[in-house]
Amino acid sequence: MPITLPGAERSLSGADNAVPAFMFDMLSAWGFRAVTLAFRTGVLAALAEEELTSEQVAEKTELDPRGIAFLLDCLDCVGYVRRAGDRYGVTDTTRELLPMISMGIPYFEKIVFTDWANLEGRLRGELPLPFGPDQPRTPRWLARQWRVFQDGMVALTNMNIDEVLERVPVPDPAGHLLDLGGGYGLYSIALCRRHPQLRATIFEIPEMQRLADRAIAENGMADRVDFRAGDFFTDELGSPSMALLFNVIHSKSAVQNRELVARTAAALRPGGSLVILDQFPAPELGPIGRSFGAMMALSMFNSVGQQTYPLDEVRDWLTDAGLVDVDFQPVRSAPGNGLFLARKPGR
Ligand SMILES: C[S@@+](CC[C@H](N)C(=O)[O-])C[C@H]1O[C@@H](n2cnc3c(N)ncnc32)[C@H](O)[C@@H]1O
Repeated sequence: MPITLPGAERSLSGADNAVPAFMFDMLSAWGFRAVTLAFRTGVLAALAEEELTSEQVAEKTELDPRGIAFLLDCLDCVGYVRRAGDRYGVTDTTRELLPMISMGIPYFEKIVFTDWANLEGRLRGELPLPFGPDQPRTPRWLARQWRVFQDGMVALTNMNIDEVLERVPVPDPAGHLLDLGGGYGLYSIALCRRHPQLRATIFEIPEMQRLADRAIAENGMADRVDFRAGDFFTDELGSPSMALLFNVIHSKSAVQNRELVARTAAALRPGGSLVILDQFPAPELGPIGRSFGAMMALSMFNSVGQQTYPLDEVRDWLTDAGLVDVDFQPVRSAPGNGLFLARKPGR
């Protein structure tokens, strides 16, 4: 959690003093590294079970006792644990975060630390992308990175799904939802749970089938949610009453997105809706949201050569595809996120 500087210290981070402000960012970077490590190595999970001394934490996690004592002190400073006497426990916020984000920690570490180790090389044009936007993932990437990536998507979904469900109207509750690039299909599954007559298809690359099928089965939705393997740029999309493009456009070029939105709009039944969820570098999302959208732009540039898009550009794709009632809504529970809602005229 960001450190709130008390009294005199706060003035050190003022806008008129550039060096301390820089150190504040360094503190955030260090803090994030300490926190993700504590999630991944089981330090926080151990403390969520019971309050422990630093020696007991070291024993449970099989990590260096002296180093763990320092790590716990850091975590106390950034508010993830609280010390009482010689024991440590997790804060209420950490307890809430554990089930929400734990499975996504390797993904967050990957995008912030591992991937950005390549950023300078990409900016200098000296390091090629691992694959172009149109190239299939290599078997090596799929074996090593796919699960980490999709588990990261689940953590992000956990953060915003309640708000997204509140904000997304379903035009035909007995209709058919097409979840383009739907991943595990958690948004579709949740929408179907809310609307007992709704059916959904997760449209994904074939490599996603095993994970999606398992999520569908675990949620008892096999009778209403199915999986279809394909390429949404070239394959037939059917005639859904509603389509989702969730966390897809930031990994595609503007030309591809315009085409994808047009294809999807053409496939929709009259009166049907298209919903886009993504991150946006937009002032409308407030300073923190805009910062997330901007960092995501650089992150997508770094990892796949793409970006997050300005709101006006996305609005143009939707209106040029003949969709109406285009509405943008910020999603506050996952900063930088926003929803575009649009409807196909007719019916
Ligand atoms: C960032 S993930 C988003 C997953 C999910 N919608 C979510 O929000 O959690 C993007 C997904 O789009 C899928 N995808 C990318 N290009 C695709 C294509 N041409 N056809 C079908 N799926 C595609 C990827 O496999 C990936 O799972």
